This record gives sequence, structure tokens and C-alpha cells, in this order.
Amino acid sequence: MKVLGILGSPYKNGGSAQLLFSALKSAEIEGAETEFVSVYDGEIKACIGCIQDEEPQCKFPCIFDDYGKIILEKINSADGIIFSTPIYWFSPSGPLKTLIDRMTCLENMVSYGEPSYMEGKVVGAIAVGADAGGPWTCGYLITALTSMGAIIPPWGIAYSYKGKEAIWDNKAVMDAINIGLLVTKMIKILKGEKTDLTYSENEKLLKEIREKVLNCLQKFKNTKSESYHGRKTVSRSSI
Ligand SMILES: Cc1cc2nc3c(=O)[nH]c(=O)nc-3n(C[C@H](O)[C@H](O)[C@H](O)COP(=O)(O)O)c2cc1C
Repeated sequence: MKVLGILGSPYKNGGSAQLLFSALKSAEIEGAETEFVSVYDGEIKACIGCIQDEEPQCKFPCIFDDYGKIILEKINSADGIIFSTPIYWFSPSGPLKTLIDRMTCLENMVSYGEPSYMEGKVVGAIAVGADAGGPWTCGYLITALTSMGAIIPPWGIAYSYKGKEAIWDNKAVMDAINIGLLVTKMIKILKGEKTDLTYSENEKLLKEIREKVLNCLQKFKNTKSESYHGRKTVSRSSI
């Protein structure tokens, strides 16, 4: 059972990284082999819409030979994918959105008489911001992914508005832990194993995972990381 964590933030010690690592650590506890990539670790060229050609050329592997292609290959060989992004104007970050566009080559295999290469992969979505847009951002991710054929497990989204302090947001960390557990359990079910899909409320596990994540963040300590506390100049309704 391979679970790939895809980070949409330039900060490997930021809030979305904190919740992503929480999810990956819990996926490991459930028996998954995990891997972590960041969309900021290389160039991901923007999709040029080959799917719109008269004779569509959009198929896996994508024509671009860039870092995006490497991530697409990792997605293709994963059983589960957990996306975690900062909220940038009520959306995932730009490079993560670009990666989603590039995933069209996996989905468009249906045009070549094959199933979508995303079919049956299990996906969870995490978003971290400073004030608003969590459900919209997660909602966008799970809508796009289920439309490519992926499966979203119960309790498959988590979000926090605590920015770089997300690891101290108990509810969000517990939700992220559940994403790791439930993505892995769903993969087990798809492989024919019997297990429950119950949300786990477990304070001991929360503390244990938080400790592991804080240790793991040490190695990214020197990454530039200033806390952003939200826009202060306007007062508006929150989502
Ligand atoms: C371009 C930009 C747009 C942002 N838009 C939002 C937003 O719409 N909602 C929000 O809650 N936070 C917004 N933020 C704040 C970030 O989501 C916040 O700093 C978050 O901690 C970043 O996640 P990270 O720590 O994982 O990088 C924005 C930040 C930037 C740089």
C-alpha cells in the first residue's frame, strides 16, 4: 500500500506540511509505505491543453519532461494520494493547481480505451490558511479528483486557519490523522481486506503523532518561514 503525500506549500515546515506529515505518519501506523513530494521542488510546466487538439494527444506520460512528469509517475504508482495545500485566495497554491491540470493525462486514458489511471486511487485533501476558504479549497480538490475517478473516503478532508501553528489545532490534527488512517483503510478494503471506516477520536494518538511531526519538522527548521496572520485591513465574512 503506497500513499503519496503531495505538499502544495513552499514551506516544508509550514502549516500544510505539519498536517500532511500528521496524515502520513498515521498512514504508516495503519501499514502504508509513504512518500512525500513538494510541488515547489522543481519546475511544473503549465498544461497546454493537448486534450483540445482535433486528434487529442493527451495521454500518460505527459509530453513535458519536467518535475511535473516525475510527480505524475509517482501518482500513477501510488494507491493513495494525500494533497495538502496552503489556501491561496480560496484555492490551492498555483503550482498545485498546475499539477492537477497536468493530471489530465492520467484521466484522459479513457480516450484511448483504457480506464482513467486515477480510477480507484484513494485521495484525501488538507488545506491550511490564516482566515478563510478551507472548505472551498478542499472542496475543489476532492471535486476535481473524484471527477478523475478517484475515491474519497469518509472524513476525507481537513483544514485549519492556524497557519504555521496548525500543528497545535487539535481538531485539524485529529482530522488529518484520520485522513491518513482512512485513506489507508479504504485502500485495504479495495484490496479485499475487512476493516472499519470509523472516525477515530484518540488523544493519545494525537499527542504521539504531534511529537513525531515536531521532530520531523526540525530538519526543515532553516526554511524561510514567517508567520502570516491574515489580512488586517478589511473586515469581511468568513467561510
Ligand atoms: C497569495 C496568498 C493568498 C492567501 N490567501 C488566503 C486565503 O484566501 N485564505 C486564508 O485563510 N489564508 C490565505 N493566505 C494565508 C496562507 O494560507 C497561510 O499563510 C498559510 O499558513 C500558508 O500555509 P503554509 O504555512 O503551509 O505555507 C494567503 C497567503 C498568500 C501568500
